[in-house]
Amino acid sequence: MSFAVPARKTSWNQRLAALRNVPPVLRLVWDAAPAVVASGIALRLVSALIPVAMLTISKFIIDLINAKHSSTIPAQMWWLLGAEFLLAAANQLLGRTIDYTDARLADEFTREVSLRLIQHATRLDLASFEDPSFHDVLERARQQATDRIGMLNAMGRLLLQSITLISLSVAVVFYSPWLFSLLVVCVVPAFMGESHFAFLGYSLAHEITPVRREVDYLRLIGTSKENAKEVKLFGLGAHLHDRYALLTGQIIGKNIKLTRRRLVWGSLFAVIGSIGYYGSYVFLVWQALQGRISIGTLILLTGAIAGSSTQLQGVFSLFSHISDQALHLTDLIAFLKVQPNIRSRPNAIPAPRPIRDGFDFRDVSFHYPGSSRLILNDLNFRLHPGEHVALVGENGQGKTTLVKLLARLYDPTSGVIYLDGNDLRDYNVEELHKEIGVIFQDFVRYDMPARMNIGVGKIDGVDDDEALWIAAKKSGADSLLRRFSSGLDQMLGRRFEGGVDLSGGEWQKFALARAYLRDAQVLILDEPTAALDAVAESEVFARFADLSRGKMALLISHRFSTVRKSDRIVVLEDGQIYEEGTHDQLVAHGGRYASLFELQAASYR
Ligand SMILES: Nc1ncnc2c1ncn2[C@@H]1O[C@H](COP(=O)(O)OP(=O)(O)OP(=O)(O)O)[C@@H](O)[C@H]1O
Ligand SMILES: [Mg+2]
Repeated sequence: MSFAVPARKTSWNQRLAALRNVPPVLRLVWDAAPAVVASGIALRLVSALIPVAMLTISKFIIDLINAKHSSTIPAQMWWLLGAEFLLAAANQLLGRTIDYTDARLADEFTREVSLRLIQHATRLDLASFEDPSFHDVLERARQQATDRIGMLNAMGRLLLQSITLISLSVAVVFYSPWLFSLLVVCVVPAFMGESHFAFLGYSLAHEITPVRREVDYLRLIGTSKENAKEVKLFGLGAHLHDRYALLTGQIIGKNIKLTRRRLVWGSLFAVIGSIGYYGSYVFLVWQALQGRISIGTLILLTGAIAGSSTQLQGVFSLFSHISDQALHLTDLIAFLKVQPNIRSRPNAIPAPRPIRDGFDFRDVSFHYPGSSRLILNDLNFRLHPGEHVALVGENGQGKTTLVKLLARLYDPTSGVIYLDGNDLRDYNVEELHKEIGVIFQDFVRYDMPARMNIGVGKIDGVDDDEALWIAAKKSGADSLLRRFSSGLDQMLGRRFEGGVDLSGGEWQKFALARAYLRDAQVLILDEPTAALDAVAESEVFARFADLSRGKMALLISHRFSTVRKSDRIVVLEDGQIYEEGTHDQLVAHGGRYASLFELQAASYR
């Protein structure tokens, strides 16, 4: 498989449109560190005027030398030399101070953007995270958070150079306006070239993001502990290596092609710029030879022209650099603009406590964004207060999906879910989430201390050792905790120094403890016991039935031995409830449940 990068036509309009991103970014920069930004600007204002001041002083010094041919140094000269020295010293000092403020700003800016990214990402819908194109944007946004320091620098230099340029051009224009316009004409092609290539660079970076993500993924598979077992046994090493080499080769190839073209055209334009400068230089020397201008003026003008030509080229290339960077920031700004769909309405009602009427799914249909396959199809389902319901069905029938809807991680495509008679969407989302404790099949194993692995269930209670121990006792994780010498503070997972790895079932006990820690009215266990041994599982369920008495509980399991004790068993198939009832009713009915149960029971005989 290879990827094709379609030639993307880039217009000037698009390039200018990218500059729209500059103001919001400037706002970000300012918010990151107002004082640092302000002092950076002030220092630059002062430092920008130094070159023209120094040139002017040089002119006077040279003219003074020319005028007096005596061997004594006139007092005026001392003043001029002194002033020039002071300016040179100030210039050095300012330069270093500006570097310092820039370095600080870079740190603060990266931090600010990263913080915003994290904060924003946590607000977004689950749907966003399950969408691959969103990951491309997120990935680019993440890179942009750290890679755009260059833009800040460029903006600072743009300010500095623009002021210097203006002050120097005043000197040039004063003498000869057409000389200055000649310079401008010489620099414009370079500017066009620069920004053209900057744009091509962006298009390339944009188009290879999916490939970069695959490359990163390959590196992860090849080097992570989780995958080491399979990679070794299946002998995947060579395959991973070759694919990695192929993809990175393609990326490098495309980059080299662009860089070469940039090199050729950039050099050509630079030569044109030099021709402009030396043309003016020849003209001025000729004027001085004719005696039309003094040597001091010659020095001033050649200095000013050399200076303004460098500054002008600098300003142009900085400008295209900034629009290039701004283009890269499109994704960051776009990402920060994405708003979650699932959020509390204005005037949202608080979650009911206690829940009196339960959940009521009415004609609920659902398909995932980006797919038209209906996972739930006109489903009607009730979960009453105090009821323990088991949800069964073959793989992919939508059990987990139903839980995501109930917990409002997704909204139904059509139909309504009621909770105590109100549309679920009318409740405050954060409060609603507090009432629901879910342990998903793919629960997270946090490479953090045991305390956190339980404490995430109720994060404000993470320091309440007693509550953590009680929760651990309920889930059976307490026996593990006792084994650890540092108890709750034992690091789990192998990522960090001193961490211990747990078996699948042991991790599940910690995950279960989270659900118990949470003071939720609804408990949902989505196959939480798949990795537990038979003894542990029957213990967990006996305890679960006990501990969740009076609460609403939804249990998803493929093991009928655990399911059979529920108040009601719901069989999900083709997006609908195929049959429901107690274990005995369903077995007597002789339908799907009965045959599946028989199948499992037979395998134990
Ligand atoms: N984020 C998603 N985007 C698109 N489709 C999805 C997504 N998650 C699940 N699906 C699809 O929805 C269907 C139902 O998935 P779901 O996870 O609800 O099944 P399940 O009943 O929990 O299965 P299992 O017993 O294997 O856990 C599956 O066919 C799956 O491919
Ligand atoms: Mg599932």
